[in-house]
Amino acid sequence: MSDTFDVASARERFPALKQDQVYLDNAGGSQVLGQVIDSISQYLSKTNVQLGASYHTGQISNTKYEEGYQAAAKYMNAGRDEIVLGASTTQLFMNLATALTIPPGSEIILSKLEHETNVKPWLYLADRLNLTVKWWVSEKPNLKLTPENLKPLLSPNVKFVACTHVSNILGSIHDVKAIADVVHEAGALFCVDGVSFAPHRAVDVKAFGVDFYAFSWYKVYGPHISVLYASTSAQEHVKPLPHYFNPTKTLEDKLGFAASNYENVQALPTVISYLSGAFPGIAAHEARLQKILLDFLTERKDVTVHGSTSSDAAVRVPTIAFTVEGVSPKTLVLEAEKRSNYGFRWGHFYSKRLCDEVLGLGPEGVARVSMVHYNTEEEIRGLVEVLKEVLP
Ligand SMILES: Cc1ncc(COP(=O)(O)O)c(C=O)c1O
Repeated sequence: MSDTFDVASARERFPALKQDQVYLDNAGGSQVLGQVIDSISQYLSKTNVQLGASYHTGQISNTKYEEGYQAAAKYMNAGRDEIVLGASTTQLFMNLATALTIPPGSEIILSKLEHETNVKPWLYLADRLNLTVKWWVSEKPNLKLTPENLKPLLSPNVKFVACTHVSNILGSIHDVKAIADVVHEAGALFCVDGVSFAPHRAVDVKAFGVDFYAFSWYKVYGPHISVLYASTSAQEHVKPLPHYFNPTKTLEDKLGFAASNYENVQALPTVISYLSGAFPGIAAHEARLQKILLDFLTERKDVTVHGSTSSDAAVRVPTIAFTVEGVSPKTLVLEAEKRSNYGFRWGHFYSKRLCDEVLGLGPEGVARVSMVHYNTEEEIRGLVEVLKEVLP
C-alpha cells in the first residue's frame, strides 16, 4: 500500500476548503470537487435539454448522461444494466422495497447497527409481504457484525439480510464478503448500505459478493445523487415499476423513475477520475488522522469511544463517535464552536436504534468527528487542543 498522500494538492481541488472552516462532518456530506461544480455549470449552461432527442444538442446531452451511467457502473465493477442512479440511498432502497418480491411468510434479518435508511424500507417490505423480521445485534464492546453472530439467525426460511458496510457512528469496517458467503449458503439475498464506506475505500460489488449495494455520491466528493446496484441474478426478484409502455430490461428501467438528475449524472466521470488510483494513499492518510484523535481520546478515563479504538486502516474509517462523562455531546460541540472554526456535530445521526438500544445513550447521542482525506494532521492536532480546553 502506497503511504504517500499529497493532501495539499487534494485540497486545491475543493473550492470550499479555501473558507475559514474546518470540515469535520463529512459523514453527513463531503465537500464537492471544483471540477464537479464546473461540469454541472457547463451542462446547465449549454446542454440542458430533454434526453432522448435526435437534434444536435440533444445528442450531446444523451451522450453525457450515458457516459455518467457507464462511468458509475465501471467504478463499482458493475454492469451498465445493474445500476440505477437516483435522488438518495433512502429513496433507492424504498424503490427496491416496493419492487422486491420475496415469498410471503418468509423471514428477513435486519441489523441494529444501521442508519434508518437500511431498516425502514425493509420494514415496509415486511409489512407489504407479511414477512417476519429478525434482529441482528452485536452488543458492546464488540459492536461488530460477523458471519459468526449472524449464523444463529439464518435458516432456510430467511430470504433477505441487510446490514451496513460501515456504521456512520462506529466507523468499523465489516467483512461483507465473509457475511455474503454465509447469507448465500442459506439461500438468502444480501443488501449492503455502503454510504459510510464509499468515501474512504474503493467499491467493488463483485469482490464483495453482494446482491444489492448502495451509496451516495454527495458524500464521495460529488453531487447530490446516489447509486443502487442489483446483480443480474438478484434482479430476477425485482418487479419492474415503470409505465406499461416503457422498457423493463435494466435496473434503471425497473427502478429509475423518469431518469435521474441529468446534471448530476453527467458530472460523475469527474469524481471517478479524481478517485482513480487514490484509495491506497487515502487509506494511509486517514489512518494517520484517526490515530491522532484516537490516541487523545483513549488516553482519557472519562471518554468512551463507541466503536473500535484501533487506528488500523483495515479495521476502521475515520468516523469517530464518543461520549464524555459529565459533559453532554451537545455542550461539547457548542463549546468547541465558541472557541474555534471546527465544524462537527452531536446526535444519533439517524442511527437511533444503535444509539438508544445498543449503546444505551441519552437523547443527545454522541459527539461525532468524521474526517476524510482532505483533512490535515494539523487540523486534527488543532481539534485535540480545542477538546483539551472544552473537556474537564
Ligand atoms: C450509513 C448511512 N446510510 C444511509 C444514509 C442515507 O443516505 P441518503 O441521504 O443518500 O439517503 C446515510 C446518510 O447520512 C448514512 O450515513
